[in-house]
This record gives sequence, C-alpha cells and structure tokens, in this order.
Amino acid sequence: MHTAIRNWWPFAEFVGKYSIRRACQCMPAFIALCLLLSNAQVQAQTQTQSTNQNQSVQVLHWWMSSSEHKAVALLSGRLAQDNISWTDAVIPSGSGIGAGIVLKSRMLAGNAPEFAQLNGVIISEWADLGLLLEIDAIAAEGKWEKNLFPSVWNLIRPRQHPVAIPLGIHRINTLFYNRKVFARFELNPPASWDEFEIVARKLQAAGIIPLAQSAEPWQVATLFETLVLAESDAVFYREAFVHKTAAAFTDARFARALTRLRWLKKWMPQPLHENTWTDMTRMMADGDAAMLVMGDWAKGELNAWGIVTDGGFSCVAVPRTAAYHLYDIDTLVMLAKDASFRSAQEKIAQIALAPAMQAEYNQIKGSISVLRNLEPPKNDRCAQSSWKVFSRGSAVQVPSLAHRMATDEISKDAIIAEVMRFFSDDKIAVTDTQRRLAAISRNLPK
Ligand code: BGC
Repeated sequence: MHTAIRNWWPFAEFVGKYSIRRACQCMPAFIALCLLLSNAQVQAQTQTQSTNQNQSVQVLHWWMSSSEHKAVALLSGRLAQDNISWTDAVIPSGSGIGAGIVLKSRMLAGNAPEFAQLNGVIISEWADLGLLLEIDAIAAEGKWEKNLFPSVWNLIRPRQHPVAIPLGIHRINTLFYNRKVFARFELNPPASWDEFEIVARKLQAAGIIPLAQSAEPWQVATLFETLVLAESDAVFYREAFVHKTAAAFTDARFARALTRLRWLKKWMPQPLHENTWTDMTRMMADGDAAMLVMGDWAKGELNAWGIVTDGGFSCVAVPRTAAYHLYDIDTLVMLAKDASFRSAQEKIAQIALAPAMQAEYNQIKGSISVLRNLEPPKNDRCAQSSWKVFSRGSAVQVPSLAHRMATDEISKDAIIAEVMRFFSDDKIAVTDTQRRLAAISRNLPK
C-alpha cells in the first residue's frame, strides 16, 4: 500500500501536467480500489472504546497559527466536557495543500483519522466514494436546512445527505490596511485601482512597502482570483473557475486580471519570498507594509495578537469587489470507518453548530457564522460587512478557486500553475498565458 502511495503522487504530477483528462478518468477507479482495500483493513481493526468513557478522536487539519489554535482549543475544550478528547493531527500548510495529500495517504494506508478538515468541492468526491459519515438525524434535529445559509447547506449535502460539519465562512476579497500608517500619511483606503496607485506611490516614496505579498502559490492565487472578480463580475468569474470555459480564459476581462496582477508586483516586497500568511500579516501589522489582500482569517490572527479591529488595522473590500463575497467555507468531515466512533462524531456536529459556539468560534477565527440569522457583533465592521453581503444570496456569493470552493483539485492546481508561471516570469505575454489556460481548460473535468 505504501508503495502504491509513493508511486501514485509522481504519477499524478505527471499526468496533471501532460494529460489531465486521462488522469481524471483513471484516478477515481484507482483511488476507489485502494480505498476498498484500506477500508477492509480498517474494519479488521478492533476498537473497543465506549461512548460513555473518555473517547479520543483524531482530527486532521492545517490550523496552526495563533487564532487557528485558539479556535481549535475552544472546540476541543467544549468537547472535553462531554468526555471526548480531540487529538490534533496537524499538517502545517497554509490553505491545506499538504493536509489533503496526507489525508489521502492515511486513507490508503488504512489509518484514517476520525475527522478531517476537508473544504469545498472535494467533499462530494469523498461522499461519492462512500467514505464519509452521513449525519441526517443530527442535521434534522438541529434544523440545519432552515438555519444554515442555503449555499452552506448545499455544499455539505452532495448526495442529499449531510456529510460535513460547517464551521464558518471566510471572505477572501478583503483588503487590510495599517491604520497608523494610513493616518500618518493622511491616506484613505482605496476604493479603485487609481486610488490604490496614488496611495501606493506615496507609501513607496516614504520607504513603506505598499502591499504585503508572499510568493507562495496559494497566496498568489488568493490575490489573483480576487483580481479576476475585480476586473469582471460573479457570472464571468464562474465561467472561468467553475465552468472552465476556454472562452473565459481568452476573454479581455481575464487579460485585464493578469495585467493587474503583474502591475501589482511593483508595489510588493522585492524580492518576493515564499513567506507564510502569518508573516505577511505581521508585516502589515508592524507597518513595514501598509496593505494586505487576504482572507479574513488574517483578522482573527491580528485579534489573537491583541490588535483590535478598527484599532491597529481596518478592512475594506478589495477595489471593485464590494458587491461580492468571494467565499471559503471551513468544514470538518467525519470518516465513516468505525461505528464505535459514531456517537462522538455526531456529538461534535451538534456542539459545533450551537449558536453560542458558532458566535465565539467565528469571532476567534475571523469568519462569520454558517447560521444565517447569527449576526456578527456590531462593533466588528469587517464581519458585519461580510455577513451583510453574504446574506444577499447566491448571486453575489463567489466560490474561491484557491480555497477549493470553485472546482476540483486537479483543475485548481492546473490553473494556479499557469498563473504562477506568468507571475514569476515577466517575459511571458498575457496572451500566451491565456492561450495555455484555454488549451488546458478543454481537458479539465467539467
Ligand atoms: C482555511 C482557513 C485557514 C486558512 C489559512 C484557508 O484555506 O479555510 O480556515 O485559516 O486557509 O491556513
């Protein structure tokens, strides 16, 4: 089995590059076969924990910053009151790139955790393979269908059965700025790219980096998807990243987003390094950089460092995206591996969705609640604005590509790889990247 895993990843990388369609045709069957074998292995293991005694559950996730750690501690502390001990299986990787790989490997090795942070479209792929516990009774009891935002309910219920615990909704199109720096130079947060340029020029002349940015691919992709939205609208964004039509990639709006990405480079740190998102948040908080485009988990992090919202920093929507909510929904899935864990798994689902837990958890995490009627605190303008826009419904809700809401893993990685090539090499023409993306898109799973 281990050899199979070792062999599979280079294979996946290879086909990802050269024949995405073939890879997509072969891989589900290959995974299903391995999973069947590993499930048999798992079932053969005897586990004798009783639900009344202390039961330990492993949770595989990638939350390891200060705020993420606090949010996990809140959940695990509450579970301890019900004799459930949460054991962390943390895979360090902003946005969870390594975590997904480790989860698959552990499944293949017959060593699955009881819970895993599995976000977005991939939930339905895992549900199709019969790997996730269905929690219909818990959802019915908690009236999830009525209480959750409809898009959240649809996401966690791929085959008409709820299979994931939704925790919170992050907004990606968020521009953070250092209030002290802005006050010192008498600047206002930019509402357009022209205003951005005026602000950036002043800051740069004063020796301050206008925009904190890392070269990590997921962080570049987080910025880029925001730019696609800024240069177009929700319908076009979905054409590109959800439906992946070749015409969207060759469209002038897509060209503008690429050009904007390149233009923004001159306002970023030179040279760019693959810093973590917490490093970038720190750079903005310390005033070495004045602005940061990042999901609002950065707000949770700043708060965890003792920097209050509208104190040391504030946030606004990225220029030209205020009408939209580019979202990323955090979810935990329960692996359907052993019935003796079922009651603990269901308990966590109940606890996580209790309104008081939702309010506190999301305040720490920087997100908004998945419960549609749970308004964030009035004094948190970032969360208020996120909640108000998201509440307007699906027309303004835009699924994040980088954070797995828009499309499958292979498509996401293929698109991000091309955007990264373009971002890293100024000699590549906009039209070349467009042509390559259009060609790739014809072979991506639809
Ligand atoms: C997750 C967030 C997390 C962020 C940084 C996102 O993909 O949804 O919960 O805080 O990555 O790791």
